Amino acid sequence: HSRAAMGGAAPAAVGEATVQAKPLHILFGTQTGNAEEVANEAATLARTRGFAPRLEELDAISPAQLAQMEHVIIAVSTYGEGEMPDNAGLFWEALSSPEAPRLESLKYGVLGLGDTSYDDFCQAAKLIDMRLEQLGAKRLGERVDCDVDYEEVATAWLQSTLPAAESATAPVAPAPSEKLTKSGWSRKTPYRSRVVDNRILSGAESAKEIRHIAFSLGDSGMSYEAGDALGVMPVNNPDYVQAILSRLGVPGETAIAGHDAPLSELLTSRFEIATPSKDLIKALAPLSGDEEFLHVVKNGDKEALDAWLWGRDLLDVLELNPTLPLDPAELVSWLKPLQHRAYSISSSPKAHKGEVHLTVAAVRWNFNRRPHRGVCSTFLADFVPEGAQAGIFMSPNKAFRVPVDDTVPMIMVGPGTGIAPFRAFLEERRARGAKGANWLFFGDQHRKSDFIYEDEISAMSASGLLTRLDLAFSRDQAEKIYVQNRMTETGRDLYAMLEEGGHFYVCGDATRMARDVDAALHSIIETQGGMTPEAATDYVNRLKRDKRYVRDVY
Ligand code: 2AM
Repeated sequence: HSRAAMGGAAPAAVGEATVQAKPLHILFGTQTGNAEEVANEAATLARTRGFAPRLEELDAISPAQLAQMEHVIIAVSTYGEGEMPDNAGLFWEALSSPEAPRLESLKYGVLGLGDTSYDDFCQAAKLIDMRLEQLGAKRLGERVDCDVDYEEVATAWLQSTLPAAESATAPVAPAPSEKLTKSGWSRKTPYRSRVVDNRILSGAESAKEIRHIAFSLGDSGMSYEAGDALGVMPVNNPDYVQAILSRLGVPGETAIAGHDAPLSELLTSRFEIATPSKDLIKALAPLSGDEEFLHVVKNGDKEALDAWLWGRDLLDVLELNPTLPLDPAELVSWLKPLQHRAYSISSSPKAHKGEVHLTVAAVRWNFNRRPHRGVCSTFLADFVPEGAQAGIFMSPNKAFRVPVDDTVPMIMVGPGTGIAPFRAFLEERRARGAKGANWLFFGDQHRKSDFIYEDEISAMSASGLLTRLDLAFSRDQAEKIYVQNRMTETGRDLYAMLEEGGHFYVCGDATRMARDVDAALHSIIETQGGMTPEAATDYVNRLKRDKRYVRDVY
């Protein structure tokens, strides 16, 4: 990956367009690869319009470089609570700074990817779009904010927004295929894979139900690398579908205008029916007869609404007013299309030929004396025993990889199911005979019931593959001990490993764990490196830019 690419020769140019074609810069900020896919599509289209497309991650670009550019297309997703994706944070920091240069000669278009279920829908795209305007850049066209079913909207926007290069003289070379997955299985056309293993890893007394699930790649032609994610298409729980049908008081065979399948199928495999959608909340709050519900919806207080919704599913909202007549077609019109769920893969393809493994915590809770379930995790837990089938596809995560250099040390922080990609990394390094140091921080509530993959990890320690293992079981003693406490305790060695060129990886819970691990990393660098907080931040930013601090957090 080349950061200095924008000025001189063009190692970042995609394919060979015409010799003198003008550059069109296509910048992407991505968490799961969708924005990168859109960027690839933009590159293909740009070539047919006489440009020489140049693809870059947003973080590889400085505002000073932007000021030199003429045409820029930006595809950026939003992650978490309206945050920039991991490879766009540094870009945004620089662009939003008061020192950012004027961008009068820049023409740009911004495409946002997001999910309207979130309040800060496409926030990253909105911020970048607004800031570019402030700095004097001119829009090629209005920004588009795409919802989860983004493909057609994105294509149409690219068609209408990408300019044509006036100076295109020579004929344009045909575009090479830039498809990310060679096999062609995708979100829209998942591969029906046979499950070849499905067992519980966590102990009987565990508060959790963590499973190991193995899928056969069969004749799919699918391939992946350690660090990638697997998309899984869930099917809604049949008992829950039945409960919604009962509430509606209509049979499952009911036809719904505008849909080619009966109601039961729409509810089973086409729409999200567990989490109440925004449209449904808006429509039903005034009819629910629940004062508090109506109050938090009317107020537009997101936190209060989230707190009220906590633990409730869509049926709970329908049951607030159990005698309110509901029109099935209207209900369907409020629903969002059923989405795949992406899970970090826990296997290396080199260690398990023809298979892909997941490590999944089944999410279950009770509310209103009725069982409630996480959609995909309980689909995997309860409905795809060995021999059953599920729709899957690969979701590449090119930023999350073992180092190319087998001698480089790795530090991995992955408590709970966050261990998944690190099992894959360790298998990968074993298969490659990599000699670099491998240091794992793992933890969970109790050693006895939550030390998943203990046998494998112990064997990896015994064989010398895992050179260091630090465990943090939070509830095995009076005071809480977390992975970041173990990091701090071993701060001197951790810093030394970073100084040796080590890569630092984090996987797991984003809101608490990854945030606290990040804070611990900063303070370790401050203490061990004798740095000010600002210098430590520069150090961490350098790690990020060099792809030596990468995260897979959710
Ligand atoms: P706790 O639930 O006992 O507080 C996996 O869920 C593990 O992550 C558990 O041991 C949990 O501890 C722990 N955990 C909870 N909050 C955390 C945080 N802010 N940072 C790191 N680990 C945390």
